[in-house]
Formats: sequence, C-alpha cells, structure tokens
Amino acid sequence: MVKRLAIILSLVLIAAYLIWRSFRPMNVFIIEDKIAWPIDTSKAPALFGKLNAKTCGNCHKKFYQEWKTTIHSKAWTDPYFKADMKFDGNQFVCRLCHTPLDQQLPSKVLGYRDKNKWDPILTPNPNFNPKLQHEGVTCAVCHLRNGKILGVLGNTNAPHPVKIIDSPNQICVRCHVSKNEKFGVFSKLPICGTVAEITKSKKTKIGESIFLNVKSLGCVNCHMPLEKRPLVEGGPIRNARRHLWRGGHDPNMVKKAITVTFNQTEKTNKNYTFKLSIVNSGAAHYVPTGTPDRHFTIKLLAYGKFGKVIKQKLEIIKRNFIWRPFIFELSDTRLRPGLPRNYIFQVSVDEKPAKVEVIIRYHLLDEKRRRRINYKNVDPISYEVFRKEIKLLN
Ligand code: HEC
Ligand code: HEC
Ligand code: HEC
Ligand code: HEC
Ligand code: HEC
Repeated sequence: MVKRLAIILSLVLIAAYLIWRSFRPMNVFIIEDKIAWPIDTSKAPALFGKLNAKTCGNCHKKFYQEWKTTIHSKAWTDPYFKADMKFDGNQFVCRLCHTPLDQQLPSKVLGYRDKNKWDPILTPNPNFNPKLQHEGVTCAVCHLRNGKILGVLGNTNAPHPVKIIDSPNQICVRCHVSKNEKFGVFSKLPICGTVAEITKSKKTKIGESIFLNVKSLGCVNCHMPLEKRPLVEGGPIRNARRHLWRGGHDPNMVKKAITVTFNQTEKTNKNYTFKLSIVNSGAAHYVPTGTPDRHFTIKLLAYGKFGKVIKQKLEIIKRNFIWRPFIFELSDTRLRPGLPRNYIFQVSVDEKPAKVEVIIRYHLLDEKRRRRINYKNVDPISYEVFRKEIKLLN
C-alpha cells in the first residue's frame, strides 16, 4: 500500500515536473559571465554626453548614417524581437545582448539566484535612459569600455581616450555565440552558435580555442567591408570599415552566401534527371546561421504542357529541434562552408514534362511560428533567392 502510494506520488511529481518544463519560460543557454554584467558606462568622458549614437555621429557622420540602417540599431525596437520576447515571458536576460549598456536597462543587476544565471536579482536603475535603450546595439555598446573607446587603428588623433584591441572580431564574440552545456539541452552546437560554427568548420575544438582564434574568425572582413575614408570630416584617409552588418534581413547578402547550379544530367527512355547543387561559398559559418528560425525552402517543380504541375518536391535546409519538455536537436541540414549539397530530381518521360523549375526561398522564420508568437509583420518574413527553369523539348 505504502509502496504503491510512493509510486503514484513519484509519477505525479514527474508529470508535474514535465508539465512545468513544458510551460515555463524557455531558457535555452547559459548566461555566461561575458554578458551577465551590464556594460559599465560610469567612466565615460563628458564629451560623449548621454552616449547617444548621434553624439558620436556629430563627428563620425558616415559611421552613424550606416549604423542607422542596420538591425543593430533596431535590436530593441525590432518588432520580431519584441513579439518573441513577450512570448518568452519578457525575461530580463534578453536585454543583456539586445541592450547591454547599464544606462539602457531599467534595472541594475545585483547578482543571480541560479547557476545558469537566468534569474537575476534586480533593483531599479536611477540612471535608466529609455532613449538610449531604443538604440539597441549602439556605438557605445561595441566601443566603450572603462571610459575608453576600443579601436584597432591606433595611429589616430582622437579627442577621446582610445584603447587598441588585438582583433576587431573580439567585439562580435561577446554576443554571437552562446554556451548551452546545461541540463536538459542536447545539441551539438550552441543554439545561437555563429562563432562556434566557424571554429568547428576550421576543425578546432569548440570552447577552448574560440578566443585564441579570434583573429581568424573573419567577421569584420565579411560584415564590415573595408573602405578607405576619413573617420571625421576633413580627417586623413584611413583603412576604415563600413558599419553595415548585413545578414538574413538582406536578400543580396544571403544571395552572396550561396552558389547554385541546376542542370539536366541525364535522359533515358524512362526518366529525365536533374541535379541541383548548392554550396555555401560566401560564409565562414553555417548557412543559414543565427537563430534556428532561419531556413531555406527548395521547391523542385515539373510542369506539363499546359502549365499544370505534374510533380513537385520540397526540401528544407534548417536545424530542427524539439523544444519541450527537453531540448533535442533532431537534425541540422544547414550548409557547411565549402561543402556542396546535391539534390536529384527525376521526372518520368511518360508524363511529358514541358519544363522543370527550382525556386529557393530564405525564411527569417516560418509562418507557423509567426502566428504562434503573434508577430504581426509589416516586412515580409521570407523572400526568393534563386529561381531557374529548364524547358524540355518533347
Ligand atoms: C568631438 C568629435 C568626436 C566625438 C564626439 C567622437 N569622436 Fe571618435 N574620433 C574623433 C577623432 C577626431 C578621431 C581620430 C580621427 C583620425 O585621426 O583620423 C576619432 C577616432 C575614433 C576611433 C578610432 C580609434 C582608433 O585608433 O582605432 C573610434 C573607434 C571612435 N573614434 C569612436 C567613437 C565613438 C564610438 C564615439 C561616441 C561614443 C566617438 N568616437 C565620439 C572625434 C570624435
Ligand atoms: C551587444 C551584442 C552584439 C554585439 C557586440 C554584436 N552584435 Fe551583431 N547582433 C546583435 C543582435 C541582438 C542582433 C539582432 C538584432 C535583432 O534582429 O533584433 C545582431 C544582428 C547582427 C547581424 C544581422 C543579422 C540579420 O538579421 O540581418 C549581423 C550580420 C551581425 N549582427 C554581425 C555582427 C558583427 C560582425 C559583430 C562584430 C563587429 C557584431 N554583430 C557584434 C548583437 C550583437
Ligand atoms: C556591432 C559593433 C559596432 C557598433 C555598434 C559600432 N561599431 Fe564602430 N567599429 C566596430 C569595429 C569592430 C571596428 C573596427 C573595425 C576595423 O577592423 O577597422 C569599428 C571601428 C570604428 C571606427 C574606426 C574606423 C574603422 O573603421 O576602423 C570608428 C570611427 C567607429 N567605429 C565609429 C562608430 C560609430 C560612430 C558608431 C555608432 C554610430 C559605431 N562605430 C558603432 C564595431 C562597431
Ligand atoms: C567569409 C565571409 C563571412 C565570415 C567570415 C562571416 N560571415 Fe556572417 N555571413 C556571411 C554571409 C554571406 C551571410 C548571409 C547568409 C546568412 O544570413 O546566413 C552571413 C550571415 C550572418 C548573420 C545573419 C544571421 C541571421 O540570423 O540573419 C550573422 C549574425 C553573422 N553572419 C555573423 C557573423 C559573425 C559573428 C562572424 C564572425 C564570428 C561572421 N558572421 C563571419 C558571411 C560571413
Ligand atoms: C547572448 C546574447 C543574446 C541573448 C542573451 C539574447 N539574444 Fe536575441 N539575438 C542575439 C543575436 C547575436 C542575434 C542576431 C543573430 C541571430 O539571428 O541569431 C539575435 C537575434 C534575435 C532574434 C531575431 C530577430 C530578427 O529580426 O530576425 C530574436 C527574435 C531574438 N534574438 C530574441 C531574443 C529573446 C526573446 C531573448 C531572451 C529570451 C534573446 N533574444 C536573448 C543575441 C542574444
């Protein structure tokens, strides 16, 4: 009797635990020390005023104009982020990468209650500046540390203190990778793992060598193209980098990442055979990278004489997860740098196909998830990146 009660009780507890895991706010990674503590701005020189991008922009006009066009400047206001944050229960820790300056945060972080640092101890922040919060990943987020401006040039004549860093990629590493070695997460790469994808592709061990290899990550080479220009109006021409950071929101950037070929390879008296080949030829990390929502769909279509679809095949390039109650990575079909992915499409001769076509689309997120998190998009959530048709002579 007692034994049976004990079994029932444990089953109830396990069920309650699984139910709790299925409804609790999602926390998919560890908040590492590098992001756990807001960036201290207390030593900022008076020259920077309230730290707004516009203040830097008064002198560095081009940098400011470029930054304004980027998703970094919208890291707080981006409607997709907003919807997702609300859906996830408005967790404070989201702010640690999307608005990490102390003055961008309505609360001060006194410490954390849990080991993985998802439960901060907060107190109101008298220095909170909502206007600065709206600037998301603003100039000072990347450039201001201990009252000094981080830079790489070193030979400049700045009216503000400058600290030279070894590699500009050091700045990106802060936010563009997250560790996920924790209970309940089973995935080979971190869930947002751009940096780790590069180190893995370069056949080094993840974790230990991320910082050693920071120079070879190449982030700024691809995302901040070099341009010889003055840093301030009338200043000397220098090796400056454009502040553009294009990614999944920019069709041209995504097109740059892939090389696609689609050809007929064979015709027998039974079948036409076509081969589609996609290579990640333009990125050092996996494509797509970033949040696991990003994916490609590939539609292969065969049409009959009157334009009717007689055969179609759908392929998806994506990471697939089960999120609840535990996080399992089921598959990762994304494109590794340099490795071609081939798809074969066969159409029967008897069906008399008049043409075949391939359409590749990039998706920021899928329609199901858009509806689930109640993100009312104004901008499209997907766009075409490749299309080719082959006419057949019957
Ligand atoms: C009053 C004008 C002024 C303001 C305001 C200003 N800067 Fe500068 N900054 C300069 C000048 C001048 C240089 C040096 C230009 C040169 O020598 O070519 C410079 C240099 C730099 C460099 C290059 C340092 C190096 O050696 O690599 C960076 C990075 C930089 N500024 C970032 C910022 C940021 C970020 C802000 C805002 C928080 C800011 N600046 C505000 C005038 C300004
Ligand atoms: C303080 C954290 C932080 C730092 C530092 C940072 N990023 Fe980002 N980055 C973000 C966030 C957050 C977003 C997404 C904003 C959004 O969409 O809401 C983003 C977006 C991007 C995107 C665009 C993705 C898209 O959706 O189009 C690129 C590319 C990018 N970052 C590259 C870089 C590079 C290169 C560096 C280093 C020079 C860097 N980032 C430094 C936080 C950061
Ligand atoms: C996402 C991080 C990030 C943000 C935001 C950012 N910068 Fe930079 N900035 C960098 C990096 C990285 C470099 C070094 C690039 C290199 O290798 O020369 C840099 C370099 C510079 C330089 C020196 C010239 C050069 O290109 O090396 C100036 C000036 C500058 N930034 C100004 C600004 C201003 C002004 C803003 C805001 C309007 C801003 N930055 C926002 C990452 C950032
Ligand atoms: C060899 C060039 C190259 C290098 C090096 C590179 N990237 Fe990219 N990156 C690209 C291209 C091309 C894309 C567009 C394809 C895509 O969005 O997946 C991209 C996309 C991205 C995105 C967009 C993801 C999204 O969700 O929209 C982010 C973020 C990003 N890169 C960050 C980085 C960071 C951080 C580094 C360094 C650790 C880096 N990249 C190194 C070429 C590069
Ligand atoms: C470790 C830093 C970090 C933390 C913490 C973080 N993010 Fe992000 N987030 C990023 C970076 C970097 C990007 C851009 C690259 C990418 O696509 O993953 C991003 C992009 C996003 C995007 C895609 C936006 C777009 O326009 O496509 C959403 C949505 C998002 N984050 C939601 C959240 C939510 C919700 C939380 C809190 C639960 C959170 N983030 C916490 C770094 C972070």
